[in-house]
Amino acid sequence: MCGIVGFVGAEQAAPILLDGLRRLEYRGYDSAGIAVCGGGELQIKKSRGRLAILSELTHDGTDLSGTLGIGHTRWATHGAPNDVNAHPHLSRSGRIAVVHNGIIENYAELKEQLLNKGYTFRSETDTEVVAQLLDYYYDGCGDFFEAVTCLLNALEGAYALGIVCADYPDRLYAARKDAPLLLGYGEGASYLASDVTALIRYTRDIVYMDDGELAILSDRGVRIYDRQMRPIEKEHHHIDWEIDAAEKGGYAHFMLKEIMEQPRAVREATAARIQGGRVVLSDLTMTPEQIRAIGKIYIVACGSSYHVGMVGKYNLERMLRRTVEVCLASEFRYSDPIVGEGDLVIVISQSGETLDTMAALREAKKRGARILSIVNVVGSSIARESDDVLYTWAGPEIAVATTKAYSTQMAVLNLLGVYFGDIMGTVDYETYTDMVRGILALPEQMERVLEQGAAIHELAKRCAHHEDVFFIGRNLDYALSLEGSLKLKEISYIHSEAYASGELKHGTISLVEDGTLVIALATYGPLFDKAMSNVEEVQARGAQVLALTTGDRADAMAEQVDMVLSVPETEPMLLPQLGVVPLQMFAYYIALERGCDIDKPRNLAKSVTVE
Ligand code: M6R
Repeated sequence: MCGIVGFVGAEQAAPILLDGLRRLEYRGYDSAGIAVCGGGELQIKKSRGRLAILSELTHDGTDLSGTLGIGHTRWATHGAPNDVNAHPHLSRSGRIAVVHNGIIENYAELKEQLLNKGYTFRSETDTEVVAQLLDYYYDGCGDFFEAVTCLLNALEGAYALGIVCADYPDRLYAARKDAPLLLGYGEGASYLASDVTALIRYTRDIVYMDDGELAILSDRGVRIYDRQMRPIEKEHHHIDWEIDAAEKGGYAHFMLKEIMEQPRAVREATAARIQGGRVVLSDLTMTPEQIRAIGKIYIVACGSSYHVGMVGKYNLERMLRRTVEVCLASEFRYSDPIVGEGDLVIVISQSGETLDTMAALREAKKRGARILSIVNVVGSSIARESDDVLYTWAGPEIAVATTKAYSTQMAVLNLLGVYFGDIMGTVDYETYTDMVRGILALPEQMERVLEQGAAIHELAKRCAHHEDVFFIGRNLDYALSLEGSLKLKEISYIHSEAYASGELKHGTISLVEDGTLVIALATYGPLFDKAMSNVEEVQARGAQVLALTTGDRADAMAEQVDMVLSVPETEPMLLPQLGVVPLQMFAYYIALERGCDIDKPRNLAKSVTVE
């Protein structure tokens, strides 16, 4: 989604803004722009397309002189991706520039009012309405702080705003509601960004803004105001990950780098939480009494995080012997959910900023449920609004297609299942020790799967021409097929669908014809024979089958199908942790063969901060 950066200090702003925007490119965007204040005037450059075009247009920023500015990468919501709709947007006086993430829900009404007052608009965006409305208030009262306050009172919807006014060439304004925004503190400089990756090169001293807050940034520091415009002090966070973590480190793509990082990431997410063979979740504040008293359990998330929830449903139900509802956050929030006091809502999110997930969290919280989130980005909105947070410690994930976040979320959810099951008395000694042993062995087993990279690449070459693919599986393999299918379609643009194998004959099998590629997941031992029957069923209709199974069954499978991939044997509940790795690699190599923009697939954004 859109990215924001802002800088005020002693150095030239434009190169810093461009560098910050470059680090936000991974989030997905279709146009970019910067505004710099120098010599009492605003200079703006913006353009459709990649940031490289903007860099060229400004000679790497050297054309714009000034030590204060704002920048933006836009992911179109209102109006086509073009130069005019790109941010920053200027007020009619040309004295105010605004960048914005989010959606102003009452923009049409506000625009109408401004049109009636004689304002004209160049773009189709909701953001230009913000710039013009601010101009209107400023014109009326002559005090910029008061004008910004009036503006924020008038806006409905979600926003992270960066604002510059040429009449105040020493300060930036920032405001937040339902869209991430953070402030960076440097030596004689202050920074603004929608994502910490934009700032890590300049400062590690960060403050996360909360909803309703306004900040004024200058080279002397930052002043923050609450909803009532009272000055407040906020907790500072130190970002401790290395800048290399957000660089490709010699890999062709971030996605490949992040796939390869999974053994380390899963080790970090789990090893410190297992002590002397026992799962120790010291970051959880729930007492054993509270855990035993849990009523209903919901898992709420979007996209791949929801797919982790699907695996979690099977595993938690097995370990806790109680019903676990897994819900898409975008559906949950509007479904009048039957959730309340005593219930536990497990919220899963890599970014911790997904708007639908956040809204679902708030809905559940409003109804009295306890919120336990599994989040990667430390200090993110979802983490801060949860009663408990289990961080996944995967480090920054840059590729839009999630890989290491998925794996670490699943690892943490499995730990949670073992921990709760033990306290609830629903996990027996054998399962407990098998799970703990299995979880500890995962990193090394994942490394063995990663060694199959070249072979998977060869299979991908054979399959890259397909335009329709079906993933099938039962039980945990079905949950895994959802992720395998999403991974493939989002980066290779191949039409792909995931089905519970047993459902095939209820409609979908009519689509299977000569040469259709079916990816049959058959890792789950107890249902292996059933999986084989489904393989035969699709083969009888002419399907070409690529199967994924465990090492001990690979030979039997190879006799039946066209292509086989395998993962090492482990405790059945942990199989998706291993099974996902070859599926990620398969999707990666297919996209590579098809020449796709792997790290930045079309139309997608890393962090989905709009509804
Ligand atoms: O940051 P989140 O985990 O809340 O994001 C949810 C989805 O947008 C995300 O998992 C998406 O489906 C993946 N990028 C797909 O690879």
